[in-house]
Amino acid sequence: MRHLISPQDFSVEEIDELLALAGRIKADPKKYSHVCDGLKLATLFYEPSTRTRLSFETAMINLGGSIIGFSDAANSSVSKGETVADTIKIISIFADIIAIRHPKEGAALVASQNASVPVINAGDGGHQHPTQTLTDLNTIYSLKGRLGGLKVGFCGDLKFGRTVHSLINALVRYPDNEFVLISPDELRVPSYIKNEVLGNSGHKFTEVDKLEQVIGDLDILYMTRVQKERFFNEEDYIRLKDRFILDAEKMKIASPEMLVLHPLPRVNEIAVEVDSDPRAVYFKQVEFGVYARMALILMLLGLDKEV
Ligand code: CP
Repeated sequence: MRHLISPQDFSVEEIDELLALAGRIKADPKKYSHVCDGLKLATLFYEPSTRTRLSFETAMINLGGSIIGFSDAANSSVSKGETVADTIKIISIFADIIAIRHPKEGAALVASQNASVPVINAGDGGHQHPTQTLTDLNTIYSLKGRLGGLKVGFCGDLKFGRTVHSLINALVRYPDNEFVLISPDELRVPSYIKNEVLGNSGHKFTEVDKLEQVIGDLDILYMTRVQKERFFNEEDYIRLKDRFILDAEKMKIASPEMLVLHPLPRVNEIAVEVDSDPRAVYFKQVEFGVYARMALILMLLGLDKEV
């Protein structure tokens, strides 16, 4: 039985296979519309979500399966004190596969250790968000045709941004990528990412605090929101939230080939005027996420060779 808790749980070859499968599904979705007939996905969301939960549910429905779960743990027996471990043992009786989002780092790992069906980490605190990474990789691969030889800028909240941590973890596994980390001092990437992930990878990386200094050199700009819910102190959030705003002026400096990705939701870090720029692909990214999650569900259920 396989789980997806961190992007490292899949080898590069498996990720490449998953992206190839996502591409085949996108090309002919009807072919896959009954592969999961009779199977159930449980979405257990202890933290708010729009894209990830609905993308998973859409993916399972597109495959012919059904969905159960909760989008607000307050309406479940979690509010009576039930642990993640016990909840997962119960849901394993009801469902064939589980996607869980939880505010605590490590909760998805605990879930996988107590499950008798595959568990997918749909985001654990400020730690990892591997299916957003599959979404991002699918977007980059589909639109750029490669996952190596890219100069990738990450901008915004790189400290709490789990999508950033997961994507860096994934992109260091491909050759010749270069990373530009654009954030204020207070929101720099955690030292374990800098030292163990980037430092040990041999890939070049730089830290800067001005987007306009570097935007002209990037192949990919990965924008992120300053996450109010991760701050202990509202004053710090207010001081930092408007530090990086991508607008049409800054897009003029960027290469015509640069792509702008964002895991969404956005607050104000990308001006709405940028949405109509063909390089802004953050809404297309959501669609690539559905195909990536369809491919993931099939792989974890061992049904990827069925069609
Ligand atoms: N990208 C992402 O995780 O969005 P949601 O929080 O809406 O799921």
